[in-house]
Amino acid sequence: MASTSQVITAKPLVIAHRGASGYLPEHTLQSVALAYAQGADFIEQDLVVTKDSKIIVLHDIHLETVTNVEQVFPSRKRPDGRYYALDFTLAELKTLNVHERQDAQGKQVFPNRYQGKGTFQVATFEEQIELIQQLNRQLNKTTGFYPEIKSPAWHREQGVDISQLVMAVLRKHQLDDADKAIYVQCFDFAETQRLRNDLEVKVKLIQLIGENDWQESPTDYDFLKTPLGLEAIAKIAQGIGPWIPQLIDLKTMQPSALVEQAHLAGLQVHPYTFRKDALPDNINQKQTLNMLFNDLQVDGLFTDFTDTVVDYLAK
Ligand code: G3P
Ligand code: CA
Repeated sequence: MASTSQVITAKPLVIAHRGASGYLPEHTLQSVALAYAQGADFIEQDLVVTKDSKIIVLHDIHLETVTNVEQVFPSRKRPDGRYYALDFTLAELKTLNVHERQDAQGKQVFPNRYQGKGTFQVATFEEQIELIQQLNRQLNKTTGFYPEIKSPAWHREQGVDISQLVMAVLRKHQLDDADKAIYVQCFDFAETQRLRNDLEVKVKLIQLIGENDWQESPTDYDFLKTPLGLEAIAKIAQGIGPWIPQLIDLKTMQPSALVEQAHLAGLQVHPYTFRKDALPDNINQKQTLNMLFNDLQVDGLFTDFTDTVVDYLAK
């Protein structure tokens, strides 16, 4: 795969996490347009599959945390009480309203964010591709895509190969290309390996790093964070997406060696997620950004607040 000199980028990338999710309901077309206007280098799309095999942009395999599915389709929950995107056609999903993320009690997770009652729809991956490509054409810009293949093992258990479906969309739009402004990310290391080795994708890949107790995927993240694990990632991917607390102990402000070790392995580092409204009490946004960009030299940053990070880097 690419050598170290090819994968380390000069200017850190600002990655709009779920669009401009600090201001508008996540992953909606409005949120994408705002992130674009705020100057994101890349805009993220979390991807899941519908009943009719369409790819939609949604963070969870469930719907109730960000839509009014319980009001519109009250009888369509599974025995576990959850509403799954995979049980609804795209036409059905288009009848839902997307709202700010809520917890299990129906309380807004980030209370100071969007408080209006506007109409927002679930977007398809292709709608987001078209919106960004049209803006790029008209504004002569190259804002990129940063799709995440969500829960591939769960989709497989349900009889769905999400990676094949996502790659079909990317290939239709000539985006399975290492030279295009796109990264594909996944938490499941077996799936990232499958993408490169079995599905023979050409696109740049980012291995996300979680914590083993999140049960996000069958991957052993403790291993992936070791030099041997990073070496294994570097065989098939261009970078890692670690959680910020894996880079900085937010109590003591001590950095870990992960960025340095990843760079030694030839990997870019794009941590998630900078949220200026969810910082620990003992640290302000400038200190956090200084540590990430100046001290640790990360190559990109996922943020709900593209404007804040763009302004910081401009200064
Ligand atoms: O993909 C980077 C970051 O978004 C990972 O966390 O849970 O927000 O998808 P999550
Ligand atoms: Ca994501």
